[in-house]
Amino acid sequence: MNTTFYHLNLINPLINASGVKCMYSSQLDELASSNIGSIVTKTCTPSPRQGNPEPRYYEPKNHLLTINSMGLPNEGVQYYLDYYKKKSASLQLSGKGRFLSLGGLSINENLNMLDIIYQNPENLTYLDAIEVNLSCPNIVGKAQLGYDFQNLESYLRVIFTKIKKLEEMLLVDMTKNVELEKPELKDKDDTKYKVLIGCKLPPYFDMSHFQLVADILNKFPRLDYINCINSIGNGLVIDSDTETVVIKPKNGFGGLGGKLVKPTALANVHQFYRLLGDKVKIIGCGGVSNGDDLFQMILAGATLVAVGSQIMIKGVKCIDTILRELEDIMEKKSYSTLDEFRGKLQYM
Ligand code: SIN
Repeated sequence: MNTTFYHLNLINPLINASGVKCMYSSQLDELASSNIGSIVTKTCTPSPRQGNPEPRYYEPKNHLLTINSMGLPNEGVQYYLDYYKKKSASLQLSGKGRFLSLGGLSINENLNMLDIIYQNPENLTYLDAIEVNLSCPNIVGKAQLGYDFQNLESYLRVIFTKIKKLEEMLLVDMTKNVELEKPELKDKDDTKYKVLIGCKLPPYFDMSHFQLVADILNKFPRLDYINCINSIGNGLVIDSDTETVVIKPKNGFGGLGGKLVKPTALANVHQFYRLLGDKVKIIGCGGVSNGDDLFQMILAGATLVAVGSQIMIKGVKCIDTILRELEDIMEKKSYSTLDEFRGKLQYM
């Protein structure tokens, strides 16, 4: 099940979906002690946030979907940097990727967090990837940036210009013999010296939007991967017995996840796989609850696959079941590596 994600050699393609049981160090520890291949933190902001009022998460008994409007509760970026600093060695030893999700509420908050990360170059030795979340649907009064087609490109340009500047400064520091633990941080042209940069996208539903977003993303060669999809924003679940909504924030409107979103997730993974080609890898996220879902995500083109609602419902033990089920499928189909079927979806 070994999986290569650029220079990372991971034990398997699974990663938790950011937001699900990854806010506190105890929750991250639980993920770390499971057989998951990579770990991503709760999307964070420069300072800790309480998020939206409770109840802000709901799953119906049939487990077909989940709805949440958490509102980015998190412990602040420094907490997650400290966590990785403390746990980095053991995570690396067990072959797990270390992903940090950033979700500043303004572009300045994202730039500020990039400054915080890069101002201590040691941080980069504890991190494998930085993911900018462009798609949280649950912040009152804030539209999802991934749908703001007018401003998405200029927003990304500011972010990538900042990263370029910070990396150039890092190289200058390195020539001054700053001691960094990452032995590969030597060569400017060696992609290994870079922390991977990704974006978490909202789901798209129209072919013209896939094309539009892919055209924008293709303008940023420093973008290593996209993570799609975030929850389907602003769904409404109603309880007929009580005649009420089921979560409190935003009058019950919240992001939908779970089994019902899988076809939308597969469509986004596959269409972006077609439009972005080899240049940008894909983390598929949405509705993965068993080995067959994982198989389909990889068939659609995903390199890594996130599990969210299923971890919420069953706990981290679901990771073993999902991996075992994929192994069975691969054995039946005589596949010995994931690369043999990745992106090989056939059409009628
Ligand atoms: C939330 O905290 O509201 C969920 C995070 C997200 O959807 O990006």
